[in-house]
Amino acid sequence: MSQIIVINFGSQVAHLINRRIRESGVYSELVGYDISVKKIAKINPKGIILSGGPSSVYEKHAPQVDKKIFSLGIPILGICYGFQLIGKKYGKLKPGKLKEYGKKLIEVKHQGSLFKKLNKKEQVWMSHGDLVTKLPAGFKILAKTNTCPIAAFENKGKRLYGIQFHAEVVHTKKGKRILKNFLDICKVKKDWSAKSAINNSINEIKFQVGNNSVIMGISGGVDSTVAAALIHRTIKDRLYCVFVDHGMLRKNEKEDVMKTLKKNLRFKHIYSVDASSMFLKRLSKVSDPEEKRKIIGHTFIEVFEKKVKEIEKKHPNIKFLGQGTIYPDRIESAQPTKQASKIKSHHNVTLPKGMKLKVVEPLKDMYKDEVRELGRKIGIPTSMIERHPFPGPGLAVRIIGNITPGRIKILQEADAIFIEELKNSGYYKKTWQAFAALFPIRAVGVKGDARTYEHIISLRAVTSIDAMTADWAKLPDSLLEKISSRILNEVAGVGRVVYDVSQKPPATIEYE
Ligand code: XMP
Repeated sequence: MSQIIVINFGSQVAHLINRRIRESGVYSELVGYDISVKKIAKINPKGIILSGGPSSVYEKHAPQVDKKIFSLGIPILGICYGFQLIGKKYGKLKPGKLKEYGKKLIEVKHQGSLFKKLNKKEQVWMSHGDLVTKLPAGFKILAKTNTCPIAAFENKGKRLYGIQFHAEVVHTKKGKRILKNFLDICKVKKDWSAKSAINNSINEIKFQVGNNSVIMGISGGVDSTVAAALIHRTIKDRLYCVFVDHGMLRKNEKEDVMKTLKKNLRFKHIYSVDASSMFLKRLSKVSDPEEKRKIIGHTFIEVFEKKVKEIEKKHPNIKFLGQGTIYPDRIESAQPTKQASKIKSHHNVTLPKGMKLKVVEPLKDMYKDEVRELGRKIGIPTSMIERHPFPGPGLAVRIIGNITPGRIKILQEADAIFIEELKNSGYYKKTWQAFAALFPIRAVGVKGDARTYEHIISLRAVTSIDAMTADWAKLPDSLLEKISSRILNEVAGVGRVVYDVSQKPPATIEYE
């Protein structure tokens, strides 16, 4: 399969470049700027894109790329910081007096190959400080703005292309066209699709696993379900799945997951472990959010490991642990600056220390939307594919304060009504995530003629692209009214319903 590589200089939107390339049907990988030329030559990409980044090329420790890449003869497109790196190597640069940020109009002087089918004036998205002011013979200046004398260039002989603005964001109206033009310059084959991804994954699993068996923890979430389904498609009944019920799942969750795996996907070996009493015992009287997360994480691994050992005794051929790791998990966990990981210790099934199993991760190169498309193609029901994300610690991080069986039940009932109404109204698909949470305090009310002192449910629905930032969903009043009235009437013990109107940041999506 022919591919492109995107060298990441720390841009917030480097992933976006990668995704845009894949959307065009070409496989693309994001790599660190410290990648060696030897490694690039081994990958043998048809084109290289140098991403933007937060640094100025003038900074002392500004990230650099191995200069030998410029002699590989592979077409290179520099975007923003990448554009300036090329400018610095071949021409003259000066620190811009003003930082330019936002929508700008460029004046296209020559279309060249990179700007084919662009108009004389085009709207782009700029975000830069330094300016490329001079380039030697061989470089053709394609565009300028009123403050930026060289906004794009190309050098056909050296196969170098550059744009000062971001082609990958939607505010650059012809961004996709420019990237497509670059792909044409690279003469790359468009052979990346969900179908080819399925075939590649199946071949890889076959090669890796051979005649051995795989064990896997499944949560019912999209990633682990799709990964398990792919492995199952490849090795059939040599896949063993373990579902740990920690007692803080959504209403009917266990039954729904079992039904999908057994009936729809015809999995044979599924072990459901009910460890809810153990989890609840360890969590009793614990109200600190991080403490809760740690107890759940450790207990989960303990229960999972015990079950795996038990299964391994009967099936000694199990040599692999399947995981639903996706591309952003892998790339982002390698970045210590990822904000979310500092704020909450996320719970995910990682390889327990004592386990001698090798990991098989069939989705490790895929983005969430690609995983969903692939899942649909291999016959996973839409209801499962379109499910909102659910945190590993489950309702524990939505029950603020102490967790008791009674409080879990109240939350499950209220949450089920909220989700049912969102689905009925078509708003489930329009939100990134929606759920009910339970406050640790009560409020006074009146039912009939009597005073009540009952629980408070908070409804949270957010829109987001990647969960790093989120906005509260603007649900219609009539829908909120219906949900509130149903919860107040149907869930015993709830006397008040509130709607959360907090953005992330400063709030987070989950409560704890
Ligand atoms: P926050 O609350 O940090 O959540 O804004 C961002 C996204 O991550 C999900 N989340 C988790 N996912 N294990 C997970 O797999 C966890 O421990 C966890 N905690 C939060 C959350 O639901 C939201 O989609």
